[in-house]
Amino acid sequence: MNYKPSIERYDNMHYRKCGNSGLKLPALSLGLWHNFGHVNNFENSKNLIFTAFDHGITHFDLANNYGPPPGSAEENFGRILTNELSSLRDELLISTKAGYTMWQGPYGDWGSKKYLISSLDQSLKRMQLDYVDIFYHHRFDPETPLEETMAALDLIVRQGKALYIGLSNYNAEQTIRAIEILEKLGTPCLINQPKYSMFERAPENQLLDVLDAQSVGCVPFSPLAQGLLTDKYLNGIPADSRVATSGVFLNAQSITEDKLKKIRLLNDLALERGQKLAHMALAWLYRDPRITSILIGSSKPEQITDSLKALNNFSFDESELTKINDILNENQ
Ligand SMILES: NC(=O)c1ccc[n+]([C@@H]2O[C@H](COP(=O)([O-])OP(=O)(O)OC[C@H]3O[C@@H](n4cnc5c(N)ncnc54)[C@H](OP(=O)(O)O)[C@@H]3O)[C@@H](O)[C@H]2O)c1
Repeated sequence: MNYKPSIERYDNMHYRKCGNSGLKLPALSLGLWHNFGHVNNFENSKNLIFTAFDHGITHFDLANNYGPPPGSAEENFGRILTNELSSLRDELLISTKAGYTMWQGPYGDWGSKKYLISSLDQSLKRMQLDYVDIFYHHRFDPETPLEETMAALDLIVRQGKALYIGLSNYNAEQTIRAIEILEKLGTPCLINQPKYSMFERAPENQLLDVLDAQSVGCVPFSPLAQGLLTDKYLNGIPADSRVATSGVFLNAQSITEDKLKKIRLLNDLALERGQKLAHMALAWLYRDPRITSILIGSSKPEQITDSLKALNNFSFDESELTKINDILNENQ
């Protein structure tokens, strides 16, 4: 074990209570969707975890299928945990999920009890853990009774394999139903993980109000729209960017002229505020007290320290918010 965490790690981070629970989440959490698979450089993956933790980012978010190949992000995270962070387990908040395709056949996908229980058992083995802090159902399953999916989540908590339960990619109506069922079972819903950024504003329609009314936390994913809400694509596609290196979930076609125009205008506004666009995009989310934590991704440790600068100013005046809305709503 070589890693020695910074003794100043808790000095500058903001922590918000997650809904009605006793759990606090850091303003930024680190997701392991990209950059932690067997295809990636393991030393860099380690440095991403260390840099995050050194700055008070206690929360690490995984899923059964993160890699590539699927499962390898959990394996690599497990190696890092066991070799470098095992004495710090109680300072870490680790989440994983199941809900997308993980293995062949009818039991490796969606939301049956059969899938969720066996998937979490596999995740725990890969991460060399006895339990995770949060276990999510990764997406709503229209074919499985919601009662069955929620009963599986409740069972997982009762078995001690997860401390808390979360939902991801559930809309407002699905969330309300799930919360009701979980409440009856006696395992409250801790948190919802939606896609939410300046470019993806669907949660503003109803979901955020539902979560607020039900005292459930919210941790938006892809807050930078996978890197679009930064200055990196303003002058073409850098060779080390997600579009160039992965190109699966974000590709060159995603960078339309309309998007670029908006990115340019947002970038100008961010500079007027004395921020980079990435900072403004994160600050814009965190200005809302209904947001518990923001789930960032990073390909380089410097991106983590850069994104933390968003917390230097996350207040916006009305005219700035209006300008942002005008830019985002143009041509729509
Ligand atoms: N529940 C779900 O269904 C779901 C789905 C997707 C993601 N998630 C979670 O959300 C996490 C974050 O998603 P995401 O990776 O799409 O988030 P994101 O923060 O929107 O995008 C991360 C990417 O933006 C670029 N970047 C980050 N910080 C930067 C900075 N300061 N300056 C310039 N560029 C910067 C990097 O891309 P480059 O590679 O170009 O450097 C980085 O990999 C995932 O890891 C996962 O845990 C959940």
